[in-house]
Amino acid sequence: MTYGEPDVDQAIDRLLSAHPEVDAAAGGALDNLDQFHIGGAEAVDLLIPGLALAEGDVILDVGSGFGGPARQIARRTGNHVVGVDITAAYVEAARELTARAGLSDSVRFHTGDIASFHPDAPFAAALTLHVQMNVPDKTAWFRHIAERLAPGARLAVWEVCRPHPADLPWPMPWSLDGTDSFVVPPEELLASLQDAGFTPVEWANESAWVKEWLDTTFAHGLPPGPALPMLLDDGYTRVLNYASALTDGTLEVWRGTFTRKSA
Ligand SMILES: C[S@@+](CC[C@H](N)C(=O)[O-])C[C@H]1O[C@@H](n2cnc3c(N)ncnc32)[C@H](O)[C@@H]1O
Repeated sequence: MTYGEPDVDQAIDRLLSAHPEVDAAAGGALDNLDQFHIGGAEAVDLLIPGLALAEGDVILDVGSGFGGPARQIARRTGNHVVGVDITAAYVEAARELTARAGLSDSVRFHTGDIASFHPDAPFAAALTLHVQMNVPDKTAWFRHIAERLAPGARLAVWEVCRPHPADLPWPMPWSLDGTDSFVVPPEELLASLQDAGFTPVEWANESAWVKEWLDTTFAHGLPPGPALPMLLDDGYTRVLNYASALTDGTLEVWRGTFTRKSA
């Protein structure tokens, strides 16, 4: 089962104990470990301006994983972030990493599906990175996100698309064998966002940026220290398969900024 690593918390403990030189409280120190999408912390930086945040805005991160993007936004902007994720072990790990980073007052996490998450107040903005590939009914899923946002709120997405029908090399970061993968062409993803009540502000193919990021990041081999694949079942194969599908054009990465319609 994808996202089935049961003891990810202990794996993080072991990795950080083995690397005492890594100060988890230092901003960005865990970027190679806790950003579960292509483009790492730099991709999150591309999304932040589109969120059009004001002081005091609370942001929703849907499918927050180990919490890297949520913590980065809190650090960069000073805003509070709430993450929601269906994988209990990942939420536990996200809370643990947030405590180590000293950010527990500004970044919180809930376990569950967005459909069953009922916040006290609508959020001022939301983001989701590399989650919808696991979701078959994307319109319903984005509609659930829209329902948790204030009218006019921004949504930023960083998403994997498959421009043409083609076999993918499994395992991938979001699916071990393809049975829980629902990757669609960019036009179809855009249509599902619009059908769910979002108006596009930007919809950009970032595949060239991603290829450059891969070249730069891995120019001298793997970066030193704790890294995300160490936490995942079959982690290195998943990352290599993904990089190869992005490099040969089988997959693309699209960045979007949207506004939630008023009614
Ligand atoms: C590839 S990871 C991305 C994590 C995070 N967004 C990041 O970029 O670091 C996908 C995450 O989506 C979560 N997920 C998958 N389906 C979900 C759903 N229907 N609702 C909420 N989370 C979901 C998984 O548990 C996993 O943590």
